[in-house]
Amino acid sequence: MSANGSDHKTNLQESAKRHMWLHFSRMAAYAGHDMPTITRGEGPYVYDEKGKRYLDGLAGLFVSQIGHGRAEVAEAAARQARELAYFPLWSYAHPQAIDLAERLSGMAPGDLNRVFFTTGGSEAVEAAWKMAKQYFKLTGEHGRYKVLSRDIAYHGTTMGALAVTGLSAIKGPFEPMLQGGVRVPNTNFYRAPSFVADDVNAFGVWAADEIERAILREGADSVAAVFLEPCQNSGGCFPPPPGYFQRVREICDRYGVLLVSDEVICAFGRLGYYFGSQRYGYQPDIITFAKGVTSGYAPLGGMIASDRLAEPFLHGETSFLHGVTFAGHPVSCAVAMANLDVFEKEDLLGNVRSNEAAFRATLEQLYDLPIVGDVRGDGYFYGIELVKDKATRETFSDDESERLLRGYLSHALFGAGLICRADDRGDPVIQLSPPLTCTQEHFTEIEQILRGVLTEAWSRL
Ligand SMILES: Cc1ncc(COP(=O)(O)O)c(C=O)c1O
Repeated sequence: MSANGSDHKTNLQESAKRHMWLHFSRMAAYAGHDMPTITRGEGPYVYDEKGKRYLDGLAGLFVSQIGHGRAEVAEAAARQARELAYFPLWSYAHPQAIDLAERLSGMAPGDLNRVFFTTGGSEAVEAAWKMAKQYFKLTGEHGRYKVLSRDIAYHGTTMGALAVTGLSAIKGPFEPMLQGGVRVPNTNFYRAPSFVADDVNAFGVWAADEIERAILREGADSVAAVFLEPCQNSGGCFPPPPGYFQRVREICDRYGVLLVSDEVICAFGRLGYYFGSQRYGYQPDIITFAKGVTSGYAPLGGMIASDRLAEPFLHGETSFLHGVTFAGHPVSCAVAMANLDVFEKEDLLGNVRSNEAAFRATLEQLYDLPIVGDVRGDGYFYGIELVKDKATRETFSDDESERLLRGYLSHALFGAGLICRADDRGDPVIQLSPPLTCTQEHFTEIEQILRGVLTEAWSRL
């Protein structure tokens, strides 16, 4: 039975430990201590059940662009639930989805004008891959089904999205994977191969050309799409080298491969633009989005496809054979509209653009610590790579990484009042992605907490 009444707070932990099953979490780790429980949020801060305040340096999970506790967005949700709580997008439309689809089409680059809604990012990736496959069946290129994506890139966890994901560590238990996922190198310049390590332009050419080599190796007529994040999250923020995406675009055009920009994290202001592809100046065939479209006030995701891709689906008896019950939920669409209103009213893109240099400069102050090897990213999206030896860039052994990240850093950062992510799915990194409302005072707070905790971490090694 669930706990309630005056002893609710006491029972919360007991109940959580008995009934909750957290995502990507070692449940055994909670046996000896409390499960962190966040009860409310306000601006860039959240509070736990004991009232302790945390700076939400990860925007929840790259989600809360406008920050927490916005009454106008909550009210938009309540109004919509009263008017029309639910109706499916299977054969029907509703005004909230129509309005949002039109607004997103107006914001998206080029001829990306058709919005297919989902409830989140993995479903968006699934939908994009399925649509690409069906598109090629419809246009007579029956052999195209494979997808290229980059090493260590995370594209979601459902079986299709997992096959696109480049993290072998989270795939093992679910083998065999769906056929057709092919890996290419990512754009981690800090760990570039020696023959291009001194020249970021040459590195970009090499990394893009690896996509061409993979297409040729697999057989161009078997490749449907390449999925790339504008700035790759997993591994700790790998921005594209100059010219990378322009070259990838040319390669995709040369071989008739679709370029999918997976912007589940990078859209909605994270990089100072509505879409990450706009920041880096390339034209995708499909954009996948989720997270920041609602700033988390309700779940929503989707893909935006070009008119060219939608065209074969718009005739005769053809339909895209795919759908999800809660996709484009009216409450979520109303929330997305209210969220985007906040973006406009407060010029959040402008805030990111005018403050991002200060954010970077503040994080770069950490370079005086021996453990900080690389600070990288763009906009309000940064990774800090931790190293054992700055001069040689030697990384930590698995054992050291385990002790450092799970044994110490994650708890210590949380204990010091900063929510961020200490991750070792690639090399050990700390990831930061604060709400887009943050300014220098928050950057300073992040830097101060990181400085204290990383100094202590180094002394424990
Ligand atoms: C680039 C990217 N694609 C897809 C996903 C999956 O999104 P979701 O967790 O909403 O299914 C994520 C999640 O973090 C992501 O970062």
